[in-house]
Amino acid sequence: MAYKILVLKGDGIGPEVVGEALQVLKVVARRSAIDLEFHEALIGGHAIDTHGTPLTDEVLARAQASDAVLLGAVGGPKWDNTRGDKRPEQALLGLRKGLGLFANLRPVKTLKELVPASPLRPEIINGVDFIVLRELTGGIYFGKPSERRDTQAGREAVDTCFYTEEEMRRIIRFGFELARDRRKRLTSVDKANILATSRLWREIATEIAADYKEVTLEHQLVDSMAMHLIRRPRDFDVIVTENLFGDILTDEASVLAGSMGMLPSASLGEELNSAGFRIGMYEPIHGTAPDIAGRDEANPLAAILSAAMLLEHSLGMRAEAELVVNAVEGVLREGYRTRDIQTGASGAKLVGCKAMGRLVRERIESQESDT
Ligand code: IPM
Ligand code: MG
Repeated sequence: MAYKILVLKGDGIGPEVVGEALQVLKVVARRSAIDLEFHEALIGGHAIDTHGTPLTDEVLARAQASDAVLLGAVGGPKWDNTRGDKRPEQALLGLRKGLGLFANLRPVKTLKELVPASPLRPEIINGVDFIVLRELTGGIYFGKPSERRDTQAGREAVDTCFYTEEEMRRIIRFGFELARDRRKRLTSVDKANILATSRLWREIATEIAADYKEVTLEHQLVDSMAMHLIRRPRDFDVIVTENLFGDILTDEASVLAGSMGMLPSASLGEELNSAGFRIGMYEPIHGTAPDIAGRDEANPLAAILSAAMLLEHSLGMRAEAELVVNAVEGVLREGYRTRDIQTGASGAKLVGCKAMGRLVRERIESQESDT
């Protein structure tokens, strides 16, 4: 039986980078004789232009009926003045909520080859390897009321940060489980000196720690965490945090990896797909980069690494995922660079989006088929 993958390329550089990731998946599928069936649909700004809404019910239903979703990015200047609930970004929130994708995994790894691409000093970022686990379906992104009002005293606006105990419990538990399989360190990030949600979060993390004696739990306040992340990033293994803090910290963390163009993500739910693994949505953490869209300059590696995460988490194909990751690292070792990760190092070869994708595929195809 074929596994169904819904491909949502989105706006800006989305179609370019997902195009390469999709071809990588096809190569892996052919090589390992996996039956993958790809369906494409419109999302974000393109969906607004065609259907008047960033996420149609039909696309959401198709996502729910798929084994995994591969997504590019949404948004762009053309839709910047669209009303709040009709903005392209709403499509992401609708998919996250509609698929129940509460766990957002954002691995941050500094590859030796890309150390010079970061503005941070090598002695700080050499060997960085951690995962940010961001809660994705709660908090201030979804709390009600969230609105703007006109009053006699002037305009006002409100957003609400709301979490249930259960929402906190399942993501924190997920964090402990990830840490248990890695270096056994979990950093829980909150703002417990100010926020009620954070105080409950910290209390629950401390309670759950009793079930994971082999994992060391530490608490950090989000403001000082922002500093520790660039001062001593090697100290972290798994970082678990709520929706908004995770959003902010992962953009900061991308500097450690050399470029936003390198960071993949997986958003996982509780439900299992037809392969018996978690249903998930996979996307690069970068945006649509309208300034370089359509110019074959984008870095497809974050999208390709997201496809690798899809293989691992939604299809249970660890060896195939590793094959893709190794191919990416191999191509970088050979000196190939897209513009965002160019360092002026000798031997560096500047390539475009398409060429980078092709190099990764060629490397996959040249591997012994013994996985
Ligand atoms: C991200 C993005 C999204 C978010 C936007 C585009 C809605 O910044 O995935 O990090 O805020 O979650
Ligand atoms: Mg973000």
